[in-house]
Amino acid sequence: MTDIFTHWTPAITADWATKPVSLTHTLHTSPLFSDAALAGLIDRYPRGQYGLIHTGGQTEKRRWQSGEIGKMPGKDVIDLIGQGDRNGQGRMWLNLRHVTDVDPAYAELLDQMFSEIASHTGDLGTIKRSMGILISSPGARVYYHADMPGQALGQIRGRKRVYVYPAKAPFLTPEGLENIATGGLELDLTYDPAFDQHATVFDLEPGQMLHWPLNCPHRVDNYDVLNVSFTVEYLTPAIRRHQIVTAANAVLRRHLGMQPKAATLDGPSYWAKAALNAGVRRSGLLAKASSKKPASFVLDSSAANGIRPLDAGSQS
Ligand SMILES: [Fe+2]
Repeated sequence: MTDIFTHWTPAITADWATKPVSLTHTLHTSPLFSDAALAGLIDRYPRGQYGLIHTGGQTEKRRWQSGEIGKMPGKDVIDLIGQGDRNGQGRMWLNLRHVTDVDPAYAELLDQMFSEIASHTGDLGTIKRSMGILISSPGARVYYHADMPGQALGQIRGRKRVYVYPAKAPFLTPEGLENIATGGLELDLTYDPAFDQHATVFDLEPGQMLHWPLNCPHRVDNYDVLNVSFTVEYLTPAIRRHQIVTAANAVLRRHLGMQPKAATLDGPSYWAKAALNAGVRRSGLLAKASSKKPASFVLDSSAANGIRPLDAGSQS
């Protein structure tokens, strides 16, 4: 099998997990990411396992709706996303979540990726890993947010600018991270354009992948071209504990008025927090805020702009 990471340098190994690093990969040349393979994948993707988001045109920032692919062939779905806002119909992105669960060929690829990473950094000890494929319109944006799992973002086609910010205040506050850990909307992090001076900025081209330290806030601007990217997420025992402690801290802060200390990852404090977290989840005290919206449109080749609104569940 061809190597995925062909130009790994000692500097990447030295900076891994402490700084954002840019890697060279070969996935854009893999048959699994050809236009035909992606179209076929969309055709057979299980309903409910993908996210299809439509955002308004330039004047309607931060407005988005969730939709379904319907019967539109995968090839046409990609073409439609590729048109972007050129006809004023707004932008779209399709997230083929957990493609590694849908097709074992991608899981094999991800296994190879982690074994190559391990050969350079030492075994990360992942207990969970997954890959998703993101197909997004020219000019589409992902707003400032942070995620709980370990993460990487790779480019297959098109070009995007990625801004990665330090995982500490003021870029990421303890309250902001607690909100994410308890299932709040990731977009609730406060963004200030002045943060950009402290961002590491990458123009991601096909054959490049970024990996950043845990919880680093980031935002993404597509250039004016169809983008195909892949996302990698992973959990290690330490990341999972960090997640549990952060969620428990949210309870201490919000419901008991305490000022919790930063995460302690072992010892009695950790286990007390883990128990608290489990209890709270059972009691429903922290209702998991869902970022899922009911579908308000379906793709339809016969409809104007290829989008047909659905009556029920219209959202703004
Ligand atoms: Fe993200």
